[in-house]
Amino acid sequence: MSLLLAFDDELTLARPLAAALGWPLAVVERHVFPDGESRLRLPAALPPRVALLRGLQRPNERLAELMLVAGGARELGAAELTLVAPYLGYMRQDIAFTPGEVVSQRHLGRALAAWFDAVITVDPHLHRVASMAEVVPGRRGVALGAAPLLGRLAAERVPGALLVGPDAESEQWVTVAAEAAGLEHAVCLKQRHGDRDVAVALPAADVAGRAVVLLDDVASTGRTLQAATRGLLERGAASVDVAVTHALFVGDALAELRTAGVRHVWSSDCIAHESNAVSVVPLLAAALRDGAGWGQAG
Ligand code: R5P
Repeated sequence: MSLLLAFDDELTLARPLAAALGWPLAVVERHVFPDGESRLRLPAALPPRVALLRGLQRPNERLAELMLVAGGARELGAAELTLVAPYLGYMRQDIAFTPGEVVSQRHLGRALAAWFDAVITVDPHLHRVASMAEVVPGRRGVALGAAPLLGRLAAERVPGALLVGPDAESEQWVTVAAEAAGLEHAVCLKQRHGDRDVAVALPAADVAGRAVVLLDDVASTGRTLQAATRGLLERGAASVDVAVTHALFVGDALAELRTAGVRHVWSSDCIAHESNAVSVVPLLAAALRDGAGWGQAG
């Protein structure tokens, strides 16, 4: 017997996931006290196998509740507890870029490994650390891929498009997306000078007259995609569309992309957003089904 647990702000993903699995869905009841602490309530008796759906966008807000739910679920009977975090925050800080900087990825990973038996996520920003198994030491870490779905979507909407990754890290996603879709691809180089200050050097590929789809794992401020779009249009690209797995799009990100000349913005439904165009539900459901018997290191 299995159960999917979710918070009420992620039901657009939780409902179809529970339906695809044929599992019951229970919502974590949540009351926030005036001082900011949370009181959480779970079903009083849990089955042995529980998956908790919780994306780690806005992670600082969500991590305390994640810890509480994990601890509570264990006490209420969950022997095998899986975190399904379609977006896993804090993955980009994977080394100390300056002396004394805390390596967030490492410490978040260790915390998740202490709370959960398995962690399933989608297109995590793994760069210098190669696998999710390294992120959650001693536990089962699973990285699913939405990039092929986005590549196929790009090929369908813009036949013959050139897929372009806006920075070196994006090569891993652009390569698999291009392969899945039978499209050509190229990768830019990026230099980040600040949160909203990035410079993007375009690849040598001739983009004049080409329809380009920029593909990346995550759009946050949108400045990476904006800089790439400006460069591509200046070089004569016929159109620039954008496809990302994780649609964070904070603040004025979407408006800035439009101003830069982006035509369409597509994303996966890892994070609910108006740009959602492909669904990761079948991937998540398959990973949860295949994971029967997890609980040991994998
Ligand atoms: C970093 O390498 C990521 O893949 C994204 O390119 C980056 O996080 C996007 O951030 P922003 O939208 O703020 O430029």
